[in-house]
Amino acid sequence: MPRRRKIIIDTDPGIDDAMAILFAAAHPGVELLGLTTVHGNVSVKDATRNALRVCAVGGFEALPVCVGAAQPLVGRARYARHVHGGDGMGDVPAGRWRPPRPDPRSAVEFIAEQVKAAPGRVTLVPIGPLTNIARFLERHPRLAAKVQEVVLMGGAAFYAGNATPVAEANILCDPEAAARVFASKLKVTMVGLDVTDTTTLSAADFDRIARRSPGPGGFLRRAVRCYIDFYRRERGKAGCCMHDVCAVACIVAPKLFELRTGRIRVHLEGFMRGGTVVQPPDRNYDAEGWGRLPPQRYAADADRPALRRLFSKTMAAAG
Ligand code: BDR
Ligand code: CA
Repeated sequence: MPRRRKIIIDTDPGIDDAMAILFAAAHPGVELLGLTTVHGNVSVKDATRNALRVCAVGGFEALPVCVGAAQPLVGRARYARHVHGGDGMGDVPAGRWRPPRPDPRSAVEFIAEQVKAAPGRVTLVPIGPLTNIARFLERHPRLAAKVQEVVLMGGAAFYAGNATPVAEANILCDPEAAARVFASKLKVTMVGLDVTDTTTLSAADFDRIARRSPGPGGFLRRAVRCYIDFYRRERGKAGCCMHDVCAVACIVAPKLFELRTGRIRVHLEGFMRGGTVVQPPDRNYDAEGWGRLPPQRYAADADRPALRRLFSKTMAAAG
């Protein structure tokens, strides 16, 4: 039996974030160490409340939830309540549930502590803007080499953006942070829109999951309604994207992905701001500083039906 992968999910829940967290918690190949929260789909305050709620829904209330950055490195936070609902979680009434206090450690402190405790064995899974990861690099530069890897949802290699024609939402929310992460000593895998924008789940898929898993599955079935509506209204899709789930899936089932190597840069100016640029396969450039950048990995393609099955099967067993 291979060792379970120790992961920290850095998140801005977010409906697909909730899907990813519940999927990670239910997967036997994952040891979920904690959640760190960040501005993104909603304010960091709401993201933290939503993260605590997901823990309650999943029955893992003891999991550390540590608060991270409220604002990007440059500029102001921009939210996506039109995608994820006013509360970021599909506006599903919380009933008598009241959020407990989050963990007293900051997101960066928590990440540093876990990496020191298990050098080379902690994987960071950012599924929101990369502000916390950039701050971690700034405060603990020497710990970067001790992170096993970073598998993030964000960006696009050769695919249009979802927030602007060139930018994916997580990267657009903090392009400076993303640029630092891709240029750092961290071993990064970018799971971006090339895969996630075309990996979808329908309302019927969630109905089936909820029948097998009335707790977490039942919650997701209610929360995804507004997310599915958004994709129908804005994109003409018959289901919602499982963006953030794909990053977790890339850790537990890397064989389902076609992973390629290429240097990655982020546009920081003008109407291209937030766009990711990836060195195409079989090309090498020395000009404009490309040669100095570390090669990273990105997901070029994936077995989408298998990803859907993996999520549904794992969630059905979640109880
Ligand atoms: C990403 O943006 C957010 O809205 C989602 O939660 C996901 O992390 C997709 O572009
Ligand atoms: Ca997210």
